[in-house]
Amino acid sequence: MAVDLMSTYITLPNVRRRKIPEEFKDNDNRFSESLVEYFLEKYTKKGDIVLDIFAGLGTTLFVAEEMERIPFGVEYSEARYIYIRENLQNKDNIIYGDSLKLLEYNVPKCDFCIASPIYMNKSETENPYTAYTTKGTYKQYLEDTRKIYSNVKKKMKHNSKIVVEVSNLKKDDSVTTLAWDIGKEISKIFHFEGEIVVNWTSNSSENKDGFYGYGYDHSYCLVFSNK
Ligand SMILES: C[S@@+](CC[C@H](N)C(=O)[O-])C[C@H]1O[C@@H](n2cnc3c(N)ncnc32)[C@H](O)[C@@H]1O
Repeated sequence: MAVDLMSTYITLPNVRRRKIPEEFKDNDNRFSESLVEYFLEKYTKKGDIVLDIFAGLGTTLFVAEEMERIPFGVEYSEARYIYIRENLQNKDNIIYGDSLKLLEYNVPKCDFCIASPIYMNKSETENPYTAYTTKGTYKQYLEDTRKIYSNVKKKMKHNSKIVVEVSNLKKDDSVTTLAWDIGKEISKIFHFEGEIVVNWTSNSSENKDGFYGYGYDHSYCLVFSNK
């Protein structure tokens, strides 16, 4: 049987080129542009529609435009949404909303999806998907993640790829196996093709947790396909 021999270990600079407003600097959980470039190069072509359901500060959308793809995104935080909208060429393609309600929004069938969910530690008791304004459990969070990706499935073209960037979380003596747990949930929706380990490099020696954060110097890109 033919196997897609993708690289399973890549090294990228953990550098964010785009300058962001002061108000966002304390919680800068953006992708490195290099990560988005790597996957858009690999899985898309000019004119393709690229979706990020956790748009954050818009890295996927901005890089998609730079590479002449058409971006669509959903972002829960109004301030982040406004920032993206102000800086995006396709202004109506960023949606202020909740990816649990993705099917209510005007998003076309997409060629590719790349996103990194907001993370949750297993000991937390607030729901990250409501910006911590409601109570929540890790179990509920994983169920919501699965629901979000079952929405995504209805917005993806046949045979398209879905990349989820995620890390395990090491805190004190305990590890939340977030990458494994999310991988298992999303595998209920999409065909799991395998993981790519991203070895992050940095020029900075300031980050005591390692170059990625959460106790690690690498993260995973879980690659799924919509078969
Ligand atoms: C890890 S950040 C994504 C960063 C993004 N990859 C970037 O490069 O800027 C996760 C984002 O998901 C957003 N978010 C959280 N819950 C959400 C929800 N229910 N629907 C849509 N976005 C959500 C958060 O506000 C946050 O901006």
